[in-house]
Amino acid sequence: MSAVRMDGKALSAKVRGSILAETEELKKKGVTPGLAVVIVGNDPASEIYVRNKERACEQCGFYSEKYALPEETSQEELLGLIAQLNESPQISGILCQMPVPKHISEQAVIDAIDPRKDVDAFHPVNVGKIMVGNFDFVPCTPAGVMELLDEYQIDPMGKECVVVGRSNIVGKPMAMLLLHRHGTVTICHSRTQDLAEVCRRADILVAAVGKAGFITPDMVKEGAVVIDVGINRNAEGKVCGDVAPEVMDKASYMTPVPGGAGPMTITMLMKNTLKAAKLQHNL
Ligand code: GUN
Repeated sequence: MSAVRMDGKALSAKVRGSILAETEELKKKGVTPGLAVVIVGNDPASEIYVRNKERACEQCGFYSEKYALPEETSQEELLGLIAQLNESPQISGILCQMPVPKHISEQAVIDAIDPRKDVDAFHPVNVGKIMVGNFDFVPCTPAGVMELLDEYQIDPMGKECVVVGRSNIVGKPMAMLLLHRHGTVTICHSRTQDLAEVCRRADILVAAVGKAGFITPDMVKEGAVVIDVGINRNAEGKVCGDVAPEVMDKASYMTPVPGGAGPMTITMLMKNTLKAAKLQHNL
């Protein structure tokens, strides 16, 4: 039997529609959510992500500003721009696309963004709030996964949830959100002993590894829910996930790549930007 495809494209369109409706209401009160997107250098994948973020802003009725800075931009210049955006009344949310060039400290950039405008939820203040379970902004990729689970009425409560990958952007916050929803959570990584066996325990398996086809059918329990957060390119240049396509025959539900977790990530960025605008205007 083939798994139910968890359609992130359709759910995104629905959520963006409701964000647009709420934006129209906010505009009547004189508030327009605004997102500033900053990109440094010309990483081709980042350029695609940034374009998709601009398009999502249009669909949600937001104001947006894009700053494409050259590779040789200094850290001081970048932090100067962020300081300006922190003060700008038109800007509710600030996103600096990662990775930044090597001569710039990623953490310095994250630390410079006003936590009230940190729509990525990368700032230590927001990371701490997520840990405690009292947060305004939810990290976009894990938030998108939770919305997909909710849409398909998959409740993590009491389930074995295995997250493969321990990044600050995906793996760690994903584990926290599942834990807040009462999942029994295991985080695996490159040094986990007998990774396949740990993955086979999972009722809900989240793959955030960054390696095409890393999760093979032997690592998946029959009937598991499999969430694929990977965006990789295979040898032919085709976009593919961390999960091998044959897993579709073993899982009960699975997110496709593309069209699963990816579109939801950007939609959650829009949701955070709307929330930032409301918080900043006490609405
Ligand atoms: N690079 C890859 N994913 C992300 C993300 O969610 N936010 C930012 N700012 N950069 C990224």
